[in-house]
Amino acid sequence: MQTIQWTKLLRLGVAAVVACAGLHARAASQAPVAAENGMVVSAQHLATQIGVNVLKRGGNAIDAAVAVGYALAVVYPAAGNLGGGGFMTVQLADGRKTFLDFREKAPLAARADMYVGKDGKVVPGLSTVGHLAVAVPGTVSGLERAREQYGTMKRGALLAPAIALAERGFVLEQGDVDMLATATAAFAADPASAAIFLNKGAPFAVGQKLVQKDLARTLKAIARHGSDGFYRGPVGNAIVVSSQTGRGLITQQDLDDYRTRELLPIECSYRGFRVISAPPPSSGGVVLCEMLNILEGYPLKELGYRSAQGVHYQIEAMRHAYVDRNNYLGDPDFVKNPLDRLLDKGYAAKIRGVIDPQKAGVSSDIKPGVAPHEGSNTTHYSIIDQWGNAVAVTYTLNDWFGAKVTAAGTGVLLNNEMDDFTSLVGVPNMYGLVQGEANAIAPGKRPLSSMSPTIVTKDGQPVLVLGTPGGSRIVTAVLHGILNVVDYGMNVQEAVDAPRFHQQWLPDVTNVEVFALSPDTRKILVDMGHKLGDPQPANHVAAIIVGAPSLGGKPVGSNRFYGANDPRRNTGLALGY
Ligand code: GLY
Repeated sequence: MQTIQWTKLLRLGVAAVVACAGLHARAASQAPVAAENGMVVSAQHLATQIGVNVLKRGGNAIDAAVAVGYALAVVYPAAGNLGGGGFMTVQLADGRKTFLDFREKAPLAARADMYVGKDGKVVPGLSTVGHLAVAVPGTVSGLERAREQYGTMKRGALLAPAIALAERGFVLEQGDVDMLATATAAFAADPASAAIFLNKGAPFAVGQKLVQKDLARTLKAIARHGSDGFYRGPVGNAIVVSSQTGRGLITQQDLDDYRTRELLPIECSYRGFRVISAPPPSSGGVVLCEMLNILEGYPLKELGYRSAQGVHYQIEAMRHAYVDRNNYLGDPDFVKNPLDRLLDKGYAAKIRGVIDPQKAGVSSDIKPGVAPHEGSNTTHYSIIDQWGNAVAVTYTLNDWFGAKVTAAGTGVLLNNEMDDFTSLVGVPNMYGLVQGEANAIAPGKRPLSSMSPTIVTKDGQPVLVLGTPGGSRIVTAVLHGILNVVDYGMNVQEAVDAPRFHQQWLPDVTNVEVFALSPDTRKILVDMGHKLGDPQPANHVAAIIVGAPSLGGKPVGSNRFYGANDPRRNTGLALGY
C-alpha cells in the first residue's frame, strides 16, 4: 500500500517537472524531464527511483548504476538480471573513459556444432530455450567490479533496496503484467520459474504483488560475500545443479573462471562531437562509428529530416556496416578484429564511393571479398550525477526472460546468450542475423553482441548518454538518437520518440516503424529499389542530454540534465532531482 502511495507521489512530482518544463515544449513530444543535480532513465520506474535515491544520498553515477542493476533484476525480470551479462560505458568527471565487459561466456564444454543435429541442420529451440542455451553469467561480477573500482558506497547499501523489493514484493502495474504475460506458457514449462512468475499457475494481474524470496536470499548472499556469494557457495552450487539437471553445460569451474574485463571503449568523431561506445565483443561501437563515418560525408541536415535521399544514405550506411559486423567481428580473445580498417574515415569514403545516390544496394552483392569489404533482449539505463560522471549500461538475458529457466532455489532467471553465437554459418539467429566464423562457438568465448551503451562528448564533457535494448536493432536505434540530436536539432524526448527504421544487410529488407516515412517518401525509396518491411518489436531508448533539452539549446531554469524515457514501453521512467 505504501509502495503505491510513494509511487503515485513521485509520479505526481515528475508530472509537475514535466508540466513546468512543458512551457518550452516543441513539436509533438512531451518535454524532457528536467533536473539540476542528476538524472536516471531506466526501463522500470521503481529502479529509476532507487537510482535517484542513491544520487540524493551523495552516491556517484556508478553507485547508482550498481543499485539500478540489482533493482532491475527484481522489478524487470524480463531483462534486468543476475543470470545474464552486459556492458557498462563510463565517462568520469575527470575525463577518464572506460568500459566494463561482463558479457556471458560459453561454458568450457561448449562446442562449435553443439546446436547442429545429425542432419547437418540447426536444431530449432536448442540455443534459445532451456539450460543448454545458457552461457556463464557475468552480471554480478560486472556490477561488483564497477562498485569496487569506481563506486563510493558500500555493497550492502546498494543492494538493500533490491533485497527489500524481492523480499516484501512490489505491486505489479499494467506494464509489468504485460511483460510477464509474454512468457506465461514458458514459465508453466519450468517448475522453478512457474513457482515465482505465475500466481498459483495463473498469470499475475495488475495490483497483485510479485514476491521473490529465493532471489532475496541470493541478493543477501551477494551483499555478504560479494561476487563469491553468487559464483560460489550455495548459490553457485544451485546454478551448477540446475544446469546439470536440465542437461546444460555449466560447471563450478566455469563459475570460478568468470572474470569481468576492463577494455578501452571504441571512439570516433562525428561532426565535432566525440562518440564513446562498446568495443568487441560488442559490435555496437564499431558498427555505430562505421555508420557515422559514412554519413558524415553526406549533408543530412540540408537534405532534411526523413527526405528520401537522406533516408537512402542512412539505409545504405546500415547495410554496409552490418556486412562487416556479421563477418569480421568476434570476441577479441579469440579473433583479430580489423578495427583500424573498419573505423578508418578513408574506408568510410570508399564505401560512400560504391553507394549509388539513386539506387538501393543489393545485400547479396555486398559481401566479404567485394570491394571495399575485405576476403557478425536486453535493457538499457543511463545515469549522470552532479559531478558529471556519466554511465551507460546495457545488460541482458538475451531474449525476454532469457532461456525461460530459473536456477532452482536461487530465483535467478538464466540467459539464452548462446544464441548470439553463430550456430551454423549462413543460418539466421533469433534476430535474423546471418553471421560468420569469427563468431563461432568456442569454450570460454563471449558471443558477439550489438549492445551499444554510448556517451557522446564535446570538449571532453558528456553531452548525450544513451542506449537501448533490441538485439540487432540496438545499433541503428542509437544511430537514430545521435542523428536526431546532432543533425536534426531535436530535443532529447523528440529524438527518443521519433519513429525509426532498421536495415541489417540480411535479410535485404528495411524495417520501418509506423509513421516513420510519408507515402510519397516510401514510393521514392521503393522506386530506388529499397524493400520496405513491417516494423519489428520496438526498442526502448533511455537518453539524457546535458546542458539544455537539445544540443546548443537554452536551459530550462537552473536545470542541467534532461532525461527521456521511451514511450514504446510502459514501465520506464526518467527522473532527476
Ligand atoms: N543479446 C543481444 C545482444 O547482445 O546483442
